[in-house]
Amino acid sequence: MKITLRQKQLLKRTFIDFRCMSEYIQDPLIMDRAEGLYYWDIEGKRYFDAIGGVFVATLGHGHPRLLAAMRQQMERMTFAPPLHAIADVTLDFVERVGSISPGNLKYVKAFSGGSEATESAIKFTRQYFKQTGHPGKYKFISRYQGYHGATAGAMSASGTGPRKSKFEPQMPGFLKVFPPSHYREQFTSWDECNRFAARAVEDVIVAEDPETVAGVIMEPIGNTGGIITPTAEYFQIVREICDRHQVMLIFDEVITGFGKTGSMFAAQSYNVTPDIICCGKGLSSGMMPVGAMIAREDLAEAFCGTAAENGQFAHGHTFAGNPLACAVGIAVIDEIVEKQLEMRARRMGEYVRARLENLKKYDVVREVRGKGILLGVELVKSTHTLEPFPELGTQLKITALKNGIILRIDPTWFAVSPALIAKDSQLDEMCGLIEKSLVEALERVCEPFSRQEGRGISSSRA
Ligand SMILES: Cc1ncc(COP(=O)(O)O)c(C=O)c1O
Repeated sequence: MKITLRQKQLLKRTFIDFRCMSEYIQDPLIMDRAEGLYYWDIEGKRYFDAIGGVFVATLGHGHPRLLAAMRQQMERMTFAPPLHAIADVTLDFVERVGSISPGNLKYVKAFSGGSEATESAIKFTRQYFKQTGHPGKYKFISRYQGYHGATAGAMSASGTGPRKSKFEPQMPGFLKVFPPSHYREQFTSWDECNRFAARAVEDVIVAEDPETVAGVIMEPIGNTGGIITPTAEYFQIVREICDRHQVMLIFDEVITGFGKTGSMFAAQSYNVTPDIICCGKGLSSGMMPVGAMIAREDLAEAFCGTAAENGQFAHGHTFAGNPLACAVGIAVIDEIVEKQLEMRARRMGEYVRARLENLKKYDVVREVRGKGILLGVELVKSTHTLEPFPELGTQLKITALKNGIILRIDPTWFAVSPALIAKDSQLDEMCGLIEKSLVEALERVCEPFSRQEGRGISSSRA
């Protein structure tokens, strides 16, 4: 079926996220259905989903166990009255999420997505300090290039200029440090660079006065910065700094959670326990909007006084803890745990990483980074000059879609994170499509140069 005139007109009445609609409307992609690792658009073309929708479909699309869990819950109850009660399945969700979280992170509040989770962590932290004798602690430190969501607080914590500048001024009390990648060229080793970047967090806390700083919020692996993968020591240093100054360490695991990095949470992959974890995306496998804020159980005690003592977390959303969403979240966790899919993510990651490393033969890949099966590839004009190559990424977006593969491309790097259920043959298919698309993109990008300068694409790129 071709795109109809009606659909074209309707596209003018909406927008898709962070996309220039006038460009998008020229060649719109409208999805019809999805199953396992594939999407089909309304014209019947199949796409390999190499990024789980957008780091979401942990178990692929339409997983039978999730459908069954949802059907079962649908028969019983689809909504509980949030101001008066909690659904039994939401309590099961609390137990299940707590059971896979590191340390004593057992206090769980379910939400409908990542932004709700990070926004809540910000409010929870501020209220916590107000109620525990540190009312002046309200500032948050996060990183440039980080992304924590689209709502006002989460956006203020985000460090992605172009996504925020249109909405200035941001909320006060949000400070930034640079991620380690910012200093990469200035140090002789990645370890040294990470140490410097981690210590910068303490410099800011001290300069601001620790009695004013409430939290540090970070993605363990930074997606929008290009799958920035700090060293384990980086997080140990940040953890020590937070402890020293009584500052809450909040991990935004909206992308890194639920097996991708080779453990249930990246916190476990890095062997560091934050005070709060925010999650979403992969917890749903794309079946229902679901996210969660997971906090240290002892922190929650600050909210447990009598009504007169303000014993409540003054926060809520109508659809938070929705029974259908919680039933799906439980089924996702159970499937990962029972099938040990985190271990599978490690094996998948080793294989895919080797295949991506092999792309270095084209002399436009600087680095393959990430953990488990959350991997990023940085594109450069030459591995000698290390100049970024956004033209290649932009072209890759076009050739990848033409060849039927969906990647995350931004445009000096691209990322892959296929569902944890991918078979070996599907990983081969994915890597083959990536290579084919990269080669074609490279040919197109280099063509004008070769015509102008009378030089062909070097043989290593052929
Ligand atoms: C690291 C991170 N945090 C938070 C969010 C916000 O999540 P949501 O879009 O579900 O609100 C995102 C979304 O991409 C994200 O990548």
